[in-house]
Amino acid sequence: MCGIIGYIGDKEANDILIKGLEQLEYRGYDSAGIAIIDNNQIRINKVLGRVQNLKQRKLIGNIGIGHTRWATHGKPSDRNAHPFLDQRNNFVVVHNGIIENYLELKEKLRKEGITFTSDTDSEVIVHLISQNYHGNLKEAVLKTVKELIGSYAFCVIKNDWQELVAARNGSPLVVGLGKDENFLASDVSALVEHTRDVIYVNDFEIVKIKKDQVKIYDFEGNKKDYNIRTIDWDLEQAQKDGYKHFMLKEIFEQPKVVEESIKIKFGLKKEYSRIIIVACGTASYAGLVGKYLIERIARIPVINETASEFRYKDPIINKNDLIIAISQSGETADTLAAIKLAKEKGAKTFGLINVIDSTIAREVDDVVYTRAGPEIGVASTKAFISQLVTLYKLAFYLANKDTESDDQLKRLKPIIIEALSLNESIKKIAEQYYTHSNFLYIGRNLSFPLALEGALKLKEISYIHAEAYPAGELKHGPIALVSEETPTVAICPQDQVYDKTRNNIEEIKARLGKVISIATIGDERIKEISDNIIYIPKVEEIFYPLVITIPLQLLAYHIADLRECDIDKPRNLAKSVTVE
Ligand code: F6R
Repeated sequence: MCGIIGYIGDKEANDILIKGLEQLEYRGYDSAGIAIIDNNQIRINKVLGRVQNLKQRKLIGNIGIGHTRWATHGKPSDRNAHPFLDQRNNFVVVHNGIIENYLELKEKLRKEGITFTSDTDSEVIVHLISQNYHGNLKEAVLKTVKELIGSYAFCVIKNDWQELVAARNGSPLVVGLGKDENFLASDVSALVEHTRDVIYVNDFEIVKIKKDQVKIYDFEGNKKDYNIRTIDWDLEQAQKDGYKHFMLKEIFEQPKVVEESIKIKFGLKKEYSRIIIVACGTASYAGLVGKYLIERIARIPVINETASEFRYKDPIINKNDLIIAISQSGETADTLAAIKLAKEKGAKTFGLINVIDSTIAREVDDVVYTRAGPEIGVASTKAFISQLVTLYKLAFYLANKDTESDDQLKRLKPIIIEALSLNESIKKIAEQYYTHSNFLYIGRNLSFPLALEGALKLKEISYIHAEAYPAGELKHGPIALVSEETPTVAICPQDQVYDKTRNNIEEIKARLGKVISIATIGDERIKEISDNIIYIPKVEEIFYPLVITIPLQLLAYHIADLRECDIDKPRNLAKSVTVE
């Protein structure tokens, strides 16, 4: 999703902005641009495609803003790339989010003689600021935010003004504090190289940044106090460590992540009659595993809701419900909106979040951090396993079985390491299948959410069409897809539904479908009905999802790599989905 960077200080802004944008590349984007003030003139360099392309020109000056765009309104192009200038070239703006009333504003501005240079919703902001400016930039921004409906974080600079001014309503924004220099970004990863001291800007706040001063105001113009936080992220954590892709590095970090996530402690009361889990994508599949676990272990009913659906369906929320948001980024717009809705209805909200101090983490009544560390690959891997571990811990905690379960969970780290040693054999299987255009994934019970996650991993990074079904659903329709050309990944560990899943695999074989089985080591019977077998280590039945995660990720990874896909930045995808 879009990224913002801003700099004011004594250094040349050009390289700082471009480097900052490179740190934001992982969020997913289609175009990039920077604007720098050079002797009271605003200079712009913006391009379709990679941040790298900005390096062909060098702008001069010590105040600037930059942006990576992920198209929402207007196709990816040079013309639609940020930053945007006003008509007199005095103001320049970068924006994340969506201005919902932009058509209305555009119409009004057009009537007043403004000509637009892009098809975006964002451009209205710069023209409004220009119109609202009467000698004070912050005042112009204050007036402008009153006219905007939607979600945004934007930053503006003026050709003859020694300040960055930014506003936030719904999209993340963080100020980085330096010595005689200050920074602004949509994400701390763009700041860690320069400073560890940050201020998180809240919704409905405007921030005014000089090189030696930061002031924050509410949308009425009243000055506000702020807290300086120290972040403990390490830039090295965000490097590839010799792996070909961040995704592979992050897959191999999972034993450590499991070890870390096991340390999570809960302070939550145990009085809830019902739990509703809200999340999106991979996080929602972790949530589905959570449902099976909490219902089975703690016997509390759990409803799983896709956050984007939940927020608009007038959901029934009771005061004694616990609403759990699961999110890696902590910025997902739909998950955030679901939490806000639950709070309005008086329910207790709880977050399982990876990014510390992110918006959802700050919005919920209570939060635990899932401890995966910074996840750079767009496809979620180690964050997923950390969410799973956290949900195991939560289920046992709610059932008052934490102590015994911790011992069981601690035994899992070497098992995850063993599962990772399957890497080379999985690569060989990938070599056999990477040219196929369609895949089916099946699993029953706790393995069903894993089938969903496996199929999602494959489609998002390899662009292969993949569908996941509960194995028992096959004969209600999807079995029509089975043919020699459509392989099935069948998740069939030795659990209580083993024989049932086996029967489904038999049905696929009877229709000449190719089957890659994920089965428990020592399972000889599975050989008769599988074309390939990925043998996973044996664990207690309830823990299979943690082990199965690994081969599913590796299979998707190797297939995508053989297809030479842009694994860490798959097309059309964004790491942090801050618009709905
Ligand atoms: C898939 C993936 C997405 C995210 C989803 C939610 O690999 O990464 O499906 O899981 O966009 O994101 P978070 O967890 O940041 O709320």
